[in-house]
Amino acid sequence: MKVLVTGGCGYIGSHTVVDLLNEDYEVVIVDNLSNSKIEVIDKIKKITGKEVTFYQYDLCDKEKVEIVFARENPDAVIHFAGLKAVGESVQKPLLYYENNLISTLNLLEIMQKYKARKFVFSSSATVYGKPASLPIDETFPLSPTNPYGTTKLMIENILADLYQSDNSFDITILRYFNPIGAHKSGLLGEDPNGIPNNLMPYIVKVATKELPVLNVFGNDYDTVDGTGVRDYIHVCDLSYGHVLALKNKRVGLKIYNLGTGMGTSVLELVNMFEKVNNIKIDRQFVARREGDIDACYASNAKAKEELNFECKYNLEDMCLDSYNYVKNNINQ
Ligand code: NAD
Ligand code: UD1
Repeated sequence: MKVLVTGGCGYIGSHTVVDLLNEDYEVVIVDNLSNSKIEVIDKIKKITGKEVTFYQYDLCDKEKVEIVFARENPDAVIHFAGLKAVGESVQKPLLYYENNLISTLNLLEIMQKYKARKFVFSSSATVYGKPASLPIDETFPLSPTNPYGTTKLMIENILADLYQSDNSFDITILRYFNPIGAHKSGLLGEDPNGIPNNLMPYIVKVATKELPVLNVFGNDYDTVDGTGVRDYIHVCDLSYGHVLALKNKRVGLKIYNLGTGMGTSVLELVNMFEKVNNIKIDRQFVARREGDIDACYASNAKAKEELNFECKYNLEDMCLDSYNYVKNNINQ
């Protein structure tokens, strides 16, 4: 089976490409490298010993999307490409709506034309907004609180309408919780430019002394120790969920949460990072971050039941692998 992976040079996409190649899928990547580097292609080859076909195209350019389908005729598409920074989406909503929606509409239109039927979409737990209870299952109401999250919900709605109009499509929507960690090789991982917004990249930059101290946003949440609780999942468990989605025998429009089902507080994560990496992370409590919620973790029962999804890596692995990647790549 030939799989087109959009955004395949990015953090989650690159790990998924490795899994796909290891399982003997043929892989074509389309990525405009707006948030990733070309070196990822060589690293994927180094890890797997296999070739991928790469197009540096912007998916907002429909003619380019068509060129890929005409040449490659993929059987399935896993659509990771998109802009994902919540804060930036509040500052530049039009950029987010344009990039995330137009790219997806182009892909779906060309898929329809070339009769490619299997589509796996990267959605996010952010579509649930502030949940009324925990754990969050797939039937919970959806109410994103920022333009990034709204693009995800809009795309979910577009996919539902498309499926309604043409039920030969086979669509899987995956709602990710908080991916962290990196490939064990130390070759693939996440290392955002500038000051990170998300917790694990920030902790790592304190560990490498690029930043002096971790600001812990709030210590008066209604949680185990007053700090925010999230469902951190190792990126390699998350990426393998996409292989399982391709193998799923159920057809139709399906939605799955991909998380571990366990909540971890900020302090629990920082303490675990210190312990497994034997390093001190200076931290200070500061005000809550606007828009943050107390706690968010998944029910992954549906993914376990229908996809045989399981998490092989624990919080220790996540902390070790996140730091290992950045130490390996510090001067690149
Ligand atoms: P990433 O930024 O590392 O990867 C996305 C890739 O898409 C990048 O390589 C970028 O260059 C590419 N891209 C963006 N717009 C493009 C376009 N118009 N044409 C071609 N390529 C384009 O992000 P990631 O963390 O790997 O996330 C992958 C997907 O998962 C995104 O859709 C994101 O919204 C979603 N998601 C991520 C998280 C997370 O915490 N990382 C959580 C939930 C959902
Ligand atoms: C982020 C995204 C969300 C996305 C989710 C999964 C934001 C605002 N939201 O949310 O859309 O679906 O990741 O990838 O980016 N924290 C600190 N100090 C820091 C950074 C974070 O204390 O410097 C705390 C936060 O308050 C939160 C926890 O750490 O309690 C996790 O934060 P983060 O990594 O940004 O993830 P989410 O808030 O879940």
